[in-house]
Amino acid sequence: MSETPSAPHGAEHRRGPFKPGDLVQLTDTKGRHHTFPLQPGRQFHTHKGSVDHDALIGAVEGVLVRSSGGMDYLALRPLLADYVLSMPRGAAVVYPKDAAQIVSMADIYPGARVLEAGVGSGALTCTLLRAVGDSGAVYSYERREDFAMIAAKNVRTFFGGEHPAWTLCVGDLVSAIRPQEVDRVVLDMLAPWECIDSVAKVLVPGGALICYVATTTQLSRTVETLRDHGRFAEPAATETLLRTWHVEGLAVRPDHRMVGHTGFLVTARRIADGVDLPPRRRRPAKGADGEDTWAPDAPGDDREAQSAAREARLARRGELP
Ligand SMILES: C[S@@+](CC[C@H](N)C(=O)[O-])C[C@H]1O[C@@H](n2cnc3c(N)ncnc32)[C@H](O)[C@@H]1O
Repeated sequence: MSETPSAPHGAEHRRGPFKPGDLVQLTDTKGRHHTFPLQPGRQFHTHKGSVDHDALIGAVEGVLVRSSGGMDYLALRPLLADYVLSMPRGAAVVYPKDAAQIVSMADIYPGARVLEAGVGSGALTCTLLRAVGDSGAVYSYERREDFAMIAAKNVRTFFGGEHPAWTLCVGDLVSAIRPQEVDRVVLDMLAPWECIDSVAKVLVPGGALICYVATTTQLSRTVETLRDHGRFAEPAATETLLRTWHVEGLAVRPDHRMVGHTGFLVTARRIADGVDLPPRRRRPAKGADGEDTWAPDAPGDDREAQSAAREARLARRGELP
């Protein structure tokens, strides 16, 4: 007879009638969300009176609850995507659309060992812990203690207690990194290029690195550092746009407003030690190495110097014709 597998950590807070300690999300008639953990005997106060937690404990999800001021609220458990947008923040969080892409593009699987830095508010940490499950490991590094404390509380609140796969380390990744092997690395910080060498030492051959950066200058520096490093295959850069739609009768069209920009993702695979990749066959795009930046007569234009610099860069990469 096969044994029934035990439920993954936190699953008991995600199904069945509401219990003490479960998170509940109340939605009012304007679509506004209020999220809090249920505690017997407590009240939740709104500008339309209060709601007794006891009125929800024991109720099934999806019921309406009425405040003492006569306002009806729909009671549901928040989805992870709802929770990360409602939880207290120290640093800016990774939006759910990007978190989903990170899990998919870095191929984060149940049982994987993942290194994450920085932790910020812990939004991405929750997603990573979900993806690796109880048998995996997420080693998270955050250099700001105040942010680490906020993240720890957010993660605990979401899973209803400590997650068995999580290790939080307060410190700068480069100086605090432990020499334990990992299968995946996720960097969400201002200067990921400063950490590439450190994470290359712990990432297994074939392992995936993914960096989330907000600006094109960070994107460029991250990609060029990976190319020059020598222990990574050619990086790929993407951006994900999510467009919500208005669907009402015959008025079916994209919403007028959208989140226009969050960040870029850079992914790269760790190659084996001692391997020298053959030079890329693709020629750099015109202007990629700085030529044509200035008009021929522009002050300060020195085409010979530019050309020499370009040749030096190509030689360094082994790409001279
Ligand atoms: C944008 S926040 C991360 C947000 C987080 N991914 C989330 O979804 O909530 C960037 C964080 O990286 C931290 N950080 C930056 N450089 C770091 C480093 N070298 N080592 C550790 N943490 C670092 C910052 O303190 C900051 O909290």
